[in-house]
Amino acid sequence: MKSNQISLTFSSIPENVSLARLLIASVGGQLDLSLNDIEELKVAVSEAVSNAIIHGYQNVPNNIVYLDLDITNNLLTIVVKDEGCGISNVEQAMQPAYSTDPERMGLGFVFMQSFMDELQVKSALEEGTIVTMKKHFKQTPISSH
Ligand SMILES: Nc1ncnc2c1ncn2[C@@H]1O[C@H](COP(=O)(O)OP(=O)(O)OP(=O)(O)O)[C@@H](O)[C@H]1O
Ligand SMILES: [Mg+2]
Repeated sequence: MKSNQISLTFSSIPENVSLARLLIASVGGQLDLSLNDIEELKVAVSEAVSNAIIHGYQNVPNNIVYLDLDITNNLLTIVVKDEGCGISNVEQAMQPAYSTDPERMGLGFVFMQSFMDELQVKSALEEGTIVTMKKHFKQTPISSH
């Protein structure tokens, strides 16, 4: 079984959301996933990364977002981590349409939940947030040249 581990750290600027999307699209393209699955992975990753930048770091640009991808045994694991403000009540934050920002829809976690097979959120105030998402795929990753 072919495995793969990728770690990316980047500044908390909105431009890097597209970088994260590109990375997951490339990795997803190497797995036995449909184009629709890949689109969903891109949405899930960009929602988690956007949350880290917008909420975790409150749009302050000189902070670091961590994105880790792991492919082992037909399972893709995506971890998005920030060392920002943290979430006081994770259960409440994950409710559909809940947002601390009245301008927002409060749907980021809803997308992550519905597009991924598993979603786990660990958070501590003033320490940060770790979002772990898992997706199963069918076959051995194909090699691309
Ligand atoms: N990394 C994070 N750090 C701190 N707070 C967070 C983080 N991620 C989410 N939250 C909190 O959880 C709430 C819900 O997040 P969610 O992504 O579902 O909605 P949203 O970001 O408010 O709106 P949308 O994603 O639709 O633009 C946010 O409003 C915010 O208060
Ligand atoms: Mg969001």
